[in-house]
Amino acid sequence: ILEVLIKGLHRLEYRGYDSAGVGIDGGNSKDWETNSKSIHLIKQTGKVKALDEEIHRQQDVDLDVEFDVHLGIAHTRWATHGAPSPVNSHPQRSDKNNEFIVIHNGIITNYKDLKKFLESKGYEFESETDTETIAKLVKYMYDNRESDAITFTTLVEQVTQQLEGAFVLVFKSLHYPGEAVGSRRGGPLLIGVRSDHKLSTDHIPILYPGKDKKSCNTLPRMDEDTCLFPVDEKAVEYYFASDASAVIEHTNRVIFLEDDDIAAVRDGRLSIHRIKRTAGDHPARAIQTLQMELQQIMKGNFSSFMQKEIFEQPESVVNTMRGRVNFENNTVILGGLKDHIKEIQRCRRLIMIACGTSYHAGVATRQVLEELTELPVMVELASDFLDRNTPVFRDDVCFFISQSGETADSLLALRYCKERGALTVGITNTVGSSISRETDCGVHINAGPEIGVASTKAYTSQFVALIMFALLMCDDRISVQPRRREIIQGLKVLPDLIKEVLSLDEEIQKLAAELYKQKSVLIMGRGYHYATCLEGALKIKEITYMHSEGILAGELKHGPLALVDKLMPVIMIIMRDHTYNKCQNALQQVVARQGRPIVICDKEDNETIKNSSRTIKVPHFFCYAILSVIPLQMLSFHLAVLRGYDVSLLRSRFHHFLTS
Ligand code: UD1
Ligand code: M6R
Repeated sequence: ILEVLIKGLHRLEYRGYDSAGVGIDGGNSKDWETNSKSIHLIKQTGKVKALDEEIHRQQDVDLDVEFDVHLGIAHTRWATHGAPSPVNSHPQRSDKNNEFIVIHNGIITNYKDLKKFLESKGYEFESETDTETIAKLVKYMYDNRESDAITFTTLVEQVTQQLEGAFVLVFKSLHYPGEAVGSRRGGPLLIGVRSDHKLSTDHIPILYPGKDKKSCNTLPRMDEDTCLFPVDEKAVEYYFASDASAVIEHTNRVIFLEDDDIAAVRDGRLSIHRIKRTAGDHPARAIQTLQMELQQIMKGNFSSFMQKEIFEQPESVVNTMRGRVNFENNTVILGGLKDHIKEIQRCRRLIMIACGTSYHAGVATRQVLEELTELPVMVELASDFLDRNTPVFRDDVCFFISQSGETADSLLALRYCKERGALTVGITNTVGSSISRETDCGVHINAGPEIGVASTKAYTSQFVALIMFALLMCDDRISVQPRRREIIQGLKVLPDLIKEVLSLDEEIQKLAAELYKQKSVLIMGRGYHYATCLEGALKIKEITYMHSEGILAGELKHGPLALVDKLMPVIMIIMRDHTYNKCQNALQQVVARQGRPIVICDKEDNETIKNSSRTIKVPHFFCYAILSVIPLQMLSFHLAVLRGYDVSLLRSRFHHFLTS
């Protein structure tokens, strides 16, 4: 079983992680009831290989014993709550005896309240994770059970009803040997089934607690009407996984669970439960046969990490806002800044310091920050900031924006500002990174691991995080409340608008086919869109090896216009905001030099659409810049593919850390 688990984790490595762990039955006896009296947890920071080595170092695990029944759970973690370390890795446990263990994908947003409650009941926590509250909560439910007949499924039902946020969970317990229970809300969970024997059904009915008590919970009736099992009572294997790539080499028969389904395996039988019956619920979950090859599944529908991450943006921006923005009462809470916000409000200026794409996130949000904080805001490239020995004072607040949290110049600039007594704030994607640790406070953007070398989803999440900060800075200023509400309600619809922009992919691929043989692309815009121009040009340079330049449209007549002629590819960003008329002027200047620009514009801007030979139409939004960058991310990706570069080879950023 360890081999299966470790191999499964290897198959998931492509998703990115910083630590890994497994939980299996202890003991070395062939008799599973003896074995299941203890649970063995093995966890390690770093690669799955390191975990495997740790397993082989264990004195009390006999790898040669064959078990008749064995259940193990394993997980790779990307830190969001607490730095990468063995104690923060999953499985998390309920207590020192490992009575209940759990693995978790997602974020529990009310974990602090749950933790406080459990601590008041005497439960002691050992990790910094949100997940540990789940392990403790299930034990609390068990310790306070009304009847000894309570099933594992019922316990998990009680636990999931208390959880807010997003989760995919699998539990194992000493009290329920050989049983596994899994549930999901807001993330994927599937169950692979492998048996050489005929299965009782190919549609597993959903069981509800109800008057008829037709439930494995309350009535242990395990027949073909309620559960899945091999009819001849022969061997069967079930695999709970967040991703088909972990199970496909064992079986191609899988069941995809829906939100709030609870799946339980007991006595080799699988049943699926739901707490509430809702109109429109499908009465059963079908076993599906996956036709895909492993390679295909691992990349999903995407040919590279960059493309996968571009398409993850509707979810990654939600994860940045999860538990922080309340769309009902228009409030924002940033746990990482709450103790410092008063000090930040009193500061003399804000300085945002970063490199590359992260620098562009600063350029993109500067105007919103200036508007909502009424403070002077400087945006600095870390290397230049250091070269200039820039004056920094005690009453400055310095932001360090970094996906990795490890970029050398940003880190050096952070230490430079700290020495001068400024308050330092991190905006990072990597919990436990140097910038996250060394800043006085900050915000983790929670975009999930970004593996592609070209930064995409981290940019939009940094953008959202900085807007949330701006909103927080002005939450008690009455005059800006209408604007705050407009922005917060805008953030609410952002994921849907991103989806709409992503649906332009095919159109953009065609555009790339027209452009890919060119030597150069100019990208022009102003106001909020200047950052999009810089970021689009950086993406194109970085992965297509084409020349590209982001040009501030206000600067056109001061030189760059000379580059424009009928052959030069030009992309212009013209949106219906305060720069609209000025951008129309720039468009006229480009057209006058026989340029035929491709215009990224509002889909309702009929005038621009009428006057341009080619447009990319995005939906109306209070902050177009988050949307207008996405077509350029997609364009750079397609250009790179058409120019013959293998974007998936641009994997690890480590070469980048070493050279920056
Ligand atoms: C916490 C969770 C987060 C969850 C949220 C709501 C952690 C690590 N995070 O976030 O996953 O979504 O509750 O339930 O528990 N910090 C720095 N520098 C940085 C980034 C962060 O010093 O660059 C500090 C913060 O000041 C804070 C801590 O790290 O003390 C955690 O930051 P963050 O994850 O953003 O805090 P919450 O929003 O409370
Ligand atoms: O990890 P960081 O955000 O600090 O990295 C900064 C830049 O090196 C990075 O954004 C780089 O520009 C991207 N690879 C561009 O796609």
